[in-house]
Amino acid sequence: MILEVESLEVRYGDVIAVRKVDLAVEQGQAVAVLGRNGAGKSSTLRGIAGATMPSGGAVRVDGVDLATRRADDRVRHGIVLVPEGRRLFPQLSVRENLAVGAYLHKLRPAAMDQEIERVTEHLPRVRERLDQQAGSLSGGEQQLVAIARALMARPRILMADEPSLGLAPVIVDAIYELFRTLLRDGLTLVVVEQYVGVALALADHAIVIDRGAVALAGPAAELAESPDLWRVYLSGSEEEPA
Ligand SMILES: Nc1ncnc2c1ncn2[C@@H]1O[C@H](COP(=O)(O)OP(=O)(O)O)[C@@H](O)[C@H]1O
Ligand SMILES: [Mg+2]
Repeated sequence: MILEVESLEVRYGDVIAVRKVDLAVEQGQAVAVLGRNGAGKSSTLRGIAGATMPSGGAVRVDGVDLATRRADDRVRHGIVLVPEGRRLFPQLSVRENLAVGAYLHKLRPAAMDQEIERVTEHLPRVRERLDQQAGSLSGGEQQLVAIARALMARPRILMADEPSLGLAPVIVDAIYELFRTLLRDGLTLVVVEQYVGVALALADHAIVIDRGAVALAGPAAELAESPDLWRVYLSGSEEEPA
């Protein structure tokens, strides 16, 4: 297992957002993290990435526990998060936003250009807009830039938090096509998704989080068939499943 998360706990003051979440993924595989709004999906990814320090549990990459390490140290070990809401610098150009993703690698300008070429190989929409202000791009293009920026950090484990939220189906397809290419190249993916069908079609394994804990886990193909999946989504909620 390239990534093993054990009994992860994430708190915001007195609020326990994540309790005892376990997750494991093999290199080159994808795991989908599903669950209703407020279930604790983002907090789980933030706890793994170190964007929020976990209050308990282990986050092992190749057996090394990083749970108490700073976020930049986890990036050095290959854990990179594409955060909810993209968090680009809207005033900066696309190129400058991509450079931010590579800051740990301290590249010289020529090497930086090469890296941008490499990362945008499968992202023509991004490549064509390198000198535009990031904030002037469509939501979908900004999401592609956010993913490209994460790739600039040379992740081994890429975690994406609702990458398709609010985007047109054609862009969602482009994002998932890119994910498939990255998986074929050996990248490991952890994806939080509202579109359950899209996520389960991509993923090898899935976990469903409910009220901060894992309610269901298993092979994605099995969960896709499971009536329990919808039970978790519908229990105590007026919301329709995605
Ligand atoms: N910064 C925060 N401060 C306090 N509570 C938070 C914060 N972020 C999230 N929460 C709470 O933690 C729980 C899980 O949130 P989150 O991880 O964002 O869920 P999801 O991503 O599944 O929608 C929710 O009850 C939410 O209100
Ligand atoms: Mg969330």
